[in-house]
Amino acid sequence: MKRIIITGASSGIGKEIALELADETSQFFLVARNMDRLEQVKMEIESKGSSAFIGVGDVSDEHQTKTLFSQAIAEMNGIDLLVANAGVGYFGNLEEMEISKYDDQFNTNVRGVFLWLREAIPVMRKQNSGQIIVTSSNLGLKTSPRASIYSATKHAVQAMVSSLRDELKGTMIKAATINPGSVSTPWFDGRDVDRSKMLTAKDVARAARLIVEQEETSNIDHILIMPGL
Ligand SMILES: NC(=O)c1ccc[n+]([C@@H]2O[C@H](COP(=O)([O-])OP(=O)(O)OC[C@H]3O[C@@H](n4cnc5c(N)ncnc54)[C@H](OP(=O)(O)O)[C@@H]3O)[C@@H](O)[C@H]2O)c1
Repeated sequence: MKRIIITGASSGIGKEIALELADETSQFFLVARNMDRLEQVKMEIESKGSSAFIGVGDVSDEHQTKTLFSQAIAEMNGIDLLVANAGVGYFGNLEEMEISKYDDQFNTNVRGVFLWLREAIPVMRKQNSGQIIVTSSNLGLKTSPRASIYSATKHAVQAMVSSLRDELKGTMIKAATINPGSVSTPWFDGRDVDRSKMLTAKDVARAARLIVEQEETSNIDHILIMPGL
């Protein structure tokens, strides 16, 4: 894969996928809100021989998404891989969930994925090629107490990608989700949890590599990946 857009590339899983796929042949357009952290990731990628552009913005903002996506296509002259990864999670019993946290989760995890897919698909259709990876969760496939709204966003994304796969039948465009259990990333910073038995971001990045490197004869639907310890 040569021309790669990753949302949520400033931290955790998105950053690790960028590092995993970085080599002399690949170009990146890295999206998130925090410019300093994006600059840091850009430097790390460039040290592996890739070129990288950064796009600072909120994935749930339609105008910003359109502007950033156009910039990415202008810089890279197309797109081979979109990793729609930016996401947030707030946990607690349903009756305790503040409306602002409900909105933030649906806006980032569902609307943010929709907006980026909606930009990428027409370009991929024109090329008749491309791979989409959406970072969902094991909670996109099952539910858990204290995760009702987060899990609802990931189920929504799961349904979105599943329908999209049907819409893409007969084309050379593929779409997959990665569904990890708990992953030790900055996501858990400041939370009182034991991270010692969690997946690593590298585990998830390797799953992304598997999708990217699949043969033309294969179309991975989703990869459910749970901690091994
Ligand atoms: N960690 C886990 O246990 C786990 C498990 C399963 C699935 N996931 C999923 O994996 C994805 C990445 O999570 P992570 O663990 O890597 O968390 P993380 O380290 O907190 O990274 C989240 C990324 O999303 C970006 N982001 C958040 N809201 C954004 C917005 N509105 N616009 C643009 N960028 C935004 C953040 O960048 P800025 O703050 O700079 O904008 C950051 O780059 C999420 O979709 C999450 O649901 C995580």
